[in-house]
Amino acid sequence: MTIIESGTAAAPDARASAPEPVAPQGQETLRDQYGRRIEYLRISVTDRCNFRCVYCMPLEGMAWLPKADILSYEEITEVVRQLAPLGLRRLRITGGEPTIRPELARLVAMLRAVPGVEDIALSTNGVRLPALAELLRAAGLDRVNMSADSLRPDRIVWTARRDLNFDPIRSAQAAENAGLGPIKINVVVMRGINDDEIEDFARLTLAHPWHVRFIELMPVGDMRALTWDHVVPTDEVVARIAALGDVTETAGPARGNGPAVYYRIAGGPGSVGVISPLTHTYCASCNRVRLTADGRLRTCLFGDHEVDLRTPLRTGVPLGPSFRAALAAKPLEHELLQMRVGGLRALSQVGG
Ligand code: 5AD
Ligand code: SF4
Repeated sequence: MTIIESGTAAAPDARASAPEPVAPQGQETLRDQYGRRIEYLRISVTDRCNFRCVYCMPLEGMAWLPKADILSYEEITEVVRQLAPLGLRRLRITGGEPTIRPELARLVAMLRAVPGVEDIALSTNGVRLPALAELLRAAGLDRVNMSADSLRPDRIVWTARRDLNFDPIRSAQAAENAGLGPIKINVVVMRGINDDEIEDFARLTLAHPWHVRFIELMPVGDMRALTWDHVVPTDEVVARIAALGDVTETAGPARGNGPAVYYRIAGGPGSVGVISPLTHTYCASCNRVRLTADGRLRTCLFGDHEVDLRTPLRTGVPLGPSFRAALAAKPLEHELLQMRVGGLRALSQVGG
């Protein structure tokens, strides 16, 4: 098996010269200062969550955003309406946990109606999928990514630090039944905590058309319990999966082109993916920006590269210039690579 270190070799300018679809008439192709085409927006609809995952949030003491600071669904839709003509095509709704914000399906329907939007995905912890999958699909949601760090009930409660009867298999099945595929399941691998379940998760792809993605733990934010010692490099994950059978690298699920590298275990309908924010940087091909729940546009998950969109939005000033300013400042690679992690916010606050 060949293991290609996706992203590491690709210089940004090499990426920019790759063949790409011509933008439809009247729509711009937006690029940042390094030539990366920006067409993907992650939208955080809340900073709150019904879980308290060990790698994400402290148990207590989170300072939640005041309601008045959080963009309404109408305001979020207005941001998308203004950015779509600039080349925005794909949206992902995130949190915190997006499904705990009331009437999420209403937002999905509003975003679906914006011309130029081609794909709407949701990142969720999965807890509410059995209740909401059908409703979200009916509103126009295309697909779902969910998180699952263990398949064992006691361990789920330990890692999520909340007992909500979460059953990852049931949730993934509910999403699949509702037509929200391809289903992606994200597993944050933590040494000594859930790394003994890598094989069990990988075997799910033999029985289901699911894409299980192992993510390197990022030791950011306020997580005293987790350190660099808990990081399992994805190369190690791939080596363990290779022992399960005949493993080949594949293109992965057709929709969504994020930073994962995918493998197929022979005989299974699904695939296994690895996402390596630490050991293999994919910054060179980063095509995404983030809208925080309180209306700031962040151009990198790490570091403080952000531009306020809420003020222009609420005062009726067009957003185009702010968006362009943000792109001009999008960094070439994230600061975690240089281990400058002090002071970084929890990922739940910036929308994953
Ligand atoms: N390290 C790695 N992934 C994280 N996520 C959140 N915090 C971290 C972290 N510290 C990602 C995981 C999780 C999703 C909600 O956000 O993918 O499943
Ligand atoms: Fe909530 Fe996701 Fe953070 Fe877990 S990782 S606490 S589910 S936002």
